[in-house]
Amino acid sequence: MTTSAPSFSPRIGVFDSGLGGLSVLRSIRQQLPAAQLLYVADSGHAPYGERGDDYVCARSLAIADFLYGQGAQLLVIACNTATAAAAAALRTRYPDGRIVGVEPGLKPAAVLSRSGRVGVMATNGTLRSERFRLLAQTHATHLDLRLQACTGLAAAIEAGETDAPAVRERVETHCAELRAQNVDTVVLGCTHYPFVAHHIQAAMGAEVRLIDTSDAVARRTASLVGALGAEAAEGPSTVAPLAQLWTTGDVATLRGFVQRWLDFPCTFEAWAG
Ligand code: DGL
Repeated sequence: MTTSAPSFSPRIGVFDSGLGGLSVLRSIRQQLPAAQLLYVADSGHAPYGERGDDYVCARSLAIADFLYGQGAQLLVIACNTATAAAAAALRTRYPDGRIVGVEPGLKPAAVLSRSGRVGVMATNGTLRSERFRLLAQTHATHLDLRLQACTGLAAAIEAGETDAPAVRERVETHCAELRAQNVDTVVLGCTHYPFVAHHIQAAMGAEVRLIDTSDAVARRTASLVGALGAEAAEGPSTVAPLAQLWTTGDVATLRGFVQRWLDFPCTFEAWAG
């Protein structure tokens, strides 16, 4: 569903540890077709989920500085792990309130699960965070949460080939644990996982419901863009908005992945940041 498209072209900065945040970028593009999208894939420093919080926070601040330097008017942290580690620091550095984060969809899971037994697939960094603990305390005290730290899965997806044996093997290992625990709902708590949702669904069984919050994040972004309103209207406007993508990793891998998964025009550049 596309919300009423603003008549101006807001510049929206989006980043992730790598390719995963493209699942969020795709939803933002659907909601805001006129927006100019700036995306950083920090693939040269992924996976964030297996790094320390200070490292992820420092990377997030450096990327935000770059995106605001490129004229971003709003920032989307398209990464659960970076949101957990760095949202507070980013909001301190850029206190205008125009920062959207991503967190595992425990709230929709609480509404949709019939048995109350809910699996959460996410990185180790997300699951051990204080932010996740508070989220669970707020929305999931009545749920039986089964946390699955999916070590190695985001890194396997980073290679760019979502049907590769290494990816399927990681999916099977993590899903086997959740299957054994009889969950009826699985939260995709990492933005890389929507790209392997077909494998996760096959491994869990058709009756298990998967929760992806990309569209909800895009709707939140659209509502902040709406609030930018007149101020953004003074900014530059383009007729054919392009998404500009940078990577700290391999440009060819990013390009190949985008060609498979996104259907709008993008440019690709290396960024040494
Ligand atoms: N895509 C990221 C997330 O949503 C993290 C993947 C990683 O780099 O570990 O958590």
